[in-house]
Amino acid sequence: MALYSRISGTGSALPARRLTNADLVTLLAERGLETSDEWIVERTGIRARHFVDADTNASDLAFKACEAALQAAGCPLSDIDLIVVGTSTPDMVFPSTATILQNKLTQAALARGEAGGAGGAAFDVQAVCSGFVYALTLADALIKTGTAHKALVVGAEVFSRILDFNDRTTCVLFGDGAGAVVLEACEHDGSGPGILATDIHADGKHTGILCVPGTVSGGQVLGDPTLKMDGQAVFKLAVGVLEDAARAVLDKAGKTAADVDWLVPHQANIRIMQGTARKLKLPMDKVVVTVDQHGNTSAASIPLALDEAVRSGKVLPGQIVMLEGVGGGFTWGAVLLKM
Ligand code: ACO
Repeated sequence: MALYSRISGTGSALPARRLTNADLVTLLAERGLETSDEWIVERTGIRARHFVDADTNASDLAFKACEAALQAAGCPLSDIDLIVVGTSTPDMVFPSTATILQNKLTQAALARGEAGGAGGAAFDVQAVCSGFVYALTLADALIKTGTAHKALVVGAEVFSRILDFNDRTTCVLFGDGAGAVVLEACEHDGSGPGILATDIHADGKHTGILCVPGTVSGGQVLGDPTLKMDGQAVFKLAVGVLEDAARAVLDKAGKTAADVDWLVPHQANIRIMQGTARKLKLPMDKVVVTVDQHGNTSAASIPLALDEAVRSGKVLPGQIVMLEGVGGGFTWGAVLLKM
């Protein structure tokens, strides 16, 4: 018998405000910029994305995703002893979005007459679009060492706050949202559900190809606080490292690509997903795709896609699922698991 961590519930949240490509064409035209539904769909596969209103932060989206995940898992908040949030768009410089989220979950549970969830560890992980894969890897390790028993692992982003709407090459790509899973300890002989292998990496020499270079100092924002990207450099790097991470988790778990029932990749661009699937010889009908409706929601994209796939009955108990993330840093990684 060995200790595993398994996903026992998933949840997600999207802001109510949905913008189609046609809406963005109008918005950019007001700024004298030209784009088209055709260009966006052909280069990225994106047709729509959701943006928060001024009063909504990453922790608000995370809160809704976590409530749904806890309900799906049949898990009371008081059982949770770890919260890890992957985000690059935190509510504040500090404290972490995870601690703000913990308090929102606790206040809601107390209001319902249930026990709260304060006291367990809560922290953020900053790995941009790899944030959820990093967060899941950390939570798995903490569960396997016995440090934690039941975790909420979350990706939550409000990228609309850091977009430059005068830069048509980036502002059409991203959206807001959150996804969450309940990850809990279980013991079995290896035939049951759980995370089978993880693999995470970073190479800081690529900082400049995808970054938000601004910072806060002396009460002012220094530098540019909006997203900058060299799209073609990101594209080339992403396809290569995603293949490496996929092969690494398969090797570690003693599996082959043929064993994978579903690939749930970071939803940045349909062409990156198609490139990865092709390299792994996985047909596209085994790839969960939500980028068309969500855009790139960074750390939220994988748990959002996973939740949609679980709730629509695509991803089923007992199936082998590969999650893959890549993002600024450069960071990348993969998780192979049995549902
Ligand atoms: N609408 C219309 N035209 C546009 C737009 C737009 N929104 N944006 C750029 N163009 C124009 C450019 O100005 C350029 O025109 P020019 O030839 O007259 O100079 C032309 O389209 C081609 O521009 P490229 O940048 O060469 O277009 P490319 O084919 O590389 O596509 C894209 C750009 C979609 C960003 C692509 O490079 C890509 O997908 N990169 C991956 C980046 C990514 O997915 N990042 C997500 C974040 S990172 C992550 O999550 C891993």
